[in-house]
Amino acid sequence: MGINILGMGKYLPEQKFTNDDFARFVETNDEWIRTRTGIAERRMAGWEPTWYMGKQAALQAIEKAGVSPDKIGLVIFCTATADFHTPSMASIVQYETGAVNASAFDLNAACTGFVYAVDTARRFLETDSECRYALVVAAESLSHFLDFSDRGSCILFGDGAAAAVIEKSDKLYSSVLGSDGSGAGLLCARALQTAPEVAVESDFEDGFPDKPLHKLYQNGKEVYKFAVSILPKSFKKAAEKVGMTKEDIDWFIPHQANVRIIETAAKKLGAPMDKFIVTLDKYGNTSSASIPIAMCEAIDSGKLKKGQKIALIGFGAGLTYGSIITEF
Ligand code: UT7
Repeated sequence: MGINILGMGKYLPEQKFTNDDFARFVETNDEWIRTRTGIAERRMAGWEPTWYMGKQAALQAIEKAGVSPDKIGLVIFCTATADFHTPSMASIVQYETGAVNASAFDLNAACTGFVYAVDTARRFLETDSECRYALVVAAESLSHFLDFSDRGSCILFGDGAAAAVIEKSDKLYSSVLGSDGSGAGLLCARALQTAPEVAVESDFEDGFPDKPLHKLYQNGKEVYKFAVSILPKSFKKAAEKVGMTKEDIDWFIPHQANVRIIETAAKKLGAPMDKFIVTLDKYGNTSSASIPIAMCEAIDSGKLKKGQKIALIGFGAGLTYGSIITEF
């Protein structure tokens, strides 16, 4: 069973942060960031909480889908940067959007979150006859978790949200989800604790990098290696399941982490770069929101049309990965 994407929406905070803005407080420059990552600017949530950005994207998606919110049976909110440990972001958005009949939960698969969430929603739609529509929301406020003294990581990320309303259909569909937890310490941020002194006084070694409180840590080189290897592999695995090849795909929509990762993957797959949707120049790496934001941009610009075949390819902390091939 496959899915039909009925409507999508996105929300980007207004505040722009250029590469030159970083040069004011870390040793970096526009040229390095552009050539090593492809990023020119990103958005930063100021007062906007993660749930609020998700709600704005969700309202747009519901409107575009033309679905009454009370007909939505499931809300999945994927994020690695929730405002609360509890309640879930999904419960807040379920209330705020009027999806009064929906079950709601959060899903954290880091940058692969949207791929995991869409595939999870598809399984609900398939097995629960009372669940006709699912709302999948991806929102991140990474700026709240960045270590702004670490030039190797703080320049990469941005904030934003996107959402999709989906229903079940018999359209082409294939998915692959995976995880390699041996790389968990390569990209991580600790949960905030009210009593950090408890952890400090203990001699328990958890094996994770010692970063202050919840600041994000990334071993860029190792994550880069993982990304360029897993991106083509996970696509091929999903494609093989439905007897497809790269030639059958109209648009590749990969996680937007670094344009060099996308270029290397394109080369490995033997697919031209102009089949890849790239938005990281404007928004940086928005983790789970990056794939659906890129999809929204492709729809709005008229590139992505109904009936075309797309490959969503995610990878990120965990280390997680996943691909979905479907007809839009
Ligand atoms: O969404 C999750 C997935 N995340 C990713 O996919 C990220 C994957 N990793 C990357 O994209 C890249 O590894 C980075 C962009 C993070 C780093 O690029 P790199 O080409 O691997 O650079 P590097 O870490 O090898 O650093 C090269 C040099 C170093 O200086 P030295 O030791 O050669 O003197 C760094 O200190 O560049 C330096 N450097 C910087 N210089 C100016 C690192 N960050 C910066 C910076 N500005 N912002």
